[in-house]
This record gives sequence, structure tokens and C-alpha cells, in this order.
Amino acid sequence: MIEVQHVTKRYGPLTAIQDISFSVAKGEIVAFLGPNGAGKTTTMRILTGYMPATNGSVRVADFDCHESPLEVKRRIGYLPEHPPLYLELTVREYLTFVGRMKGVEMGQVVQRMERVIEQTGLGEVKKRVIGNLSRGYRQRVGLAQALIHDPPVLILDEPTVGLDPNQIIEIRDLIKSLRGSHTIILSTHILPEATALCERVIIIHRGKIVAIDTQEQLATRLRRSEKLRVTVKTELPDMEDQLRTVRGVINVSAGESVNTYLIEAELGHDIREAITEFVMTHQLGLLELAVVSMTLEDVFIQLTKQDTSPPHAGNDQSP
Ligand SMILES: Nc1ncnc2c1ncn2[C@@H]1O[C@H](COP(=O)(O)OP(=O)(O)OP(=O)(O)O)[C@@H](O)[C@H]1O
Ligand SMILES: [Mg+2]
Repeated sequence: MIEVQHVTKRYGPLTAIQDISFSVAKGEIVAFLGPNGAGKTTTMRILTGYMPATNGSVRVADFDCHESPLEVKRRIGYLPEHPPLYLELTVREYLTFVGRMKGVEMGQVVQRMERVIEQTGLGEVKKRVIGNLSRGYRQRVGLAQALIHDPPVLILDEPTVGLDPNQIIEIRDLIKSLRGSHTIILSTHILPEATALCERVIIIHRGKIVAIDTQEQLATRLRRSEKLRVTVKTELPDMEDQLRTVRGVINVSAGESVNTYLIEAELGHDIREAITEFVMTHQLGLLELAVVSMTLEDVFIQLTKQDTSPPHAGNDQSP
């Protein structure tokens, strides 16, 4: 549904994104993750035909963004980083106006407007002037205008920014409900959001894609050690040092609660039995023993803390 090939964007001397390629299948929800200034918004603006790429090509629903920008725009709903709202209009007036601008038939625009107002939870404020709405409600209006012409593709730049926790859940549920029927790319800084909504994540760092995969695959690929969390009832005075003597253990650190330890072992080494034996031998009382899997946050930090610029980066053969 979305095909991005070798896209580069320069703003004068600054290369905001460099040689980016990826594709998104119909009905898929993909998250764009990356630190501030990574190039997420730039990529989204190019995808929506808002701005041309310096190099490369983008196709949406088989139309080239450069050659057929109108066909592409018809099929995309875009929630920009800063939605352009007409502050003096009421929510209903604004959505009707945008609907007409986006080609919704006169006879259907009221019906579409009522539908998106319901979907985005704007019922209570639909007669109010947008300029008087709170930030969260304005964000919902932004989302409503992206949905008004019922586009098959949605490009959402930080859709839940500025919302309170309850609103975040509602908007996430709304996005989830579009799964399968819509193809969605959303950018976010909130990693649990990507976890909750998306099958695949694209991690972008300094204008380059550093990973595209499912979260599970990323975690597996980046795992350099096995991690266990063990909780005991009583502990030894030199517990950490003692645990380090267990065969296969590389590192031990204190966990987040009392009498809990995080134990790292060599990759491929299952030390659960050895740890259980250790706890039994010292009669410490085993309360919990669990394998700790890598979270998306671990993956993100690992990938974006690396500097991708030196020519030798990624070459693991150095001593
Ligand atoms: N119109 C512009 N003119 C010049 N430079 C720009 C322009 N827009 C973005 N940039 C630069 O391009 C780079 C990528 O910016 P972009 O807004 O795409 O990042 P982002 O990943 O969306 O960041 P954030 O998480 O802060 O929204 C940044 O260095 C930014 O300063
Ligand atoms: Mg941005």
C-alpha cells in the first residue's frame, strides 16, 4: 500500500533523511520511532505529498506521490504535528468545511461529520468554537479532519500528544478499531503506544532507518545475553558476589524491589536450574524466578544511543 524507495530529503545543507526505504502492507499499522529531530515528521510530510523529496520515490495505493499528488491526497488522511485548525469556526463547521474540501459529496458530508465526531469523542464540544477548546480536544479535531473523507491510508504524526491518560486510551482504541480496514503509519515517542498498537516498528535515527521489524524479532536480534530476575525471601550478606560465582553468570545487579536481583548469563546458557540450586543450597527461599525479555524501550535505547556516523560503525570485527 505504501512503497518508499531510497528517499532523501535535504533542507539546504542539512540532510534530514537519507536513503530511506520501506513498505507497508494494506491493513498494517506501523510505528515510526525515533528521538527528536530523527526525521519522522519529514518522512511523513513527503509521504503525504505535503513536500517533495530531494531524491527517491514514494508510491501510495499505486500512485506516485510526485506524479499524481491529488490521487494520493484523496487516499490519505494526515494528522500533522501541528494541525492547521480554523480557530473561529465551530467543530461542526470546520469538519463540514474540510469534508467538502476533501471531496466529500454535499449529500454525505453531514453524515460523515457526525460519524467522525462520534469516533473521536467530540460530541460534547461539537457546537463550540475550536479556539476555545483545550489542547486535547483540538488534537481530536485534528484526528477527525484526517478521517473525514474515510481514507484507506492514515498518516498520524504523534496522534496522542497532549492528551490525558483517559483520552490516550480512547484514541488508541479508535486507532485499533481501524486495524485491518486502514493502513496506518503513526509516529510516537511513547514506546508502550507502539507496543500496544503496531505489528512492526521502524526505528529512525539521524535520518536513517536503523531497524524495521516486529518488536519480538528486534528484541531477539539485539539480545546479547539471557536475563533472569530472581526474588528470594532472605539474602546472603554478599549476595551479588555469591551469585556471580554461579556457572554461566556474567553480571548481577540489584533489582527494583527488595531481595530481587537481575542476573545476566551468556547467550544460549540456561542458568535457571543452577540458580534454583544455589537458592536451595543456601536455603534462601525462592519467591520468584523469571526470564526477563527485552522491551521495546531496551531495543530503542540500544539502537539510538549508537552513533551511526563513523565509517566503521556496524563493523563488529574490531577487537
Ligand atoms: N523546514 C525545515 N527547514 C530546515 N530544517 C528542517 C525543517 N524541518 C525539519 N528540519 C530539520 O530536519 C531534521 C529532522 O526533523 P523532523 O522534524 O523530521 O524530526 P522528527 O523526527 O519529527 O523530530 P520530533 O520528534 O522532534 O518531532 C531536524 O534536524 C530538523 O531540525
Ligand atoms: Mg516530528
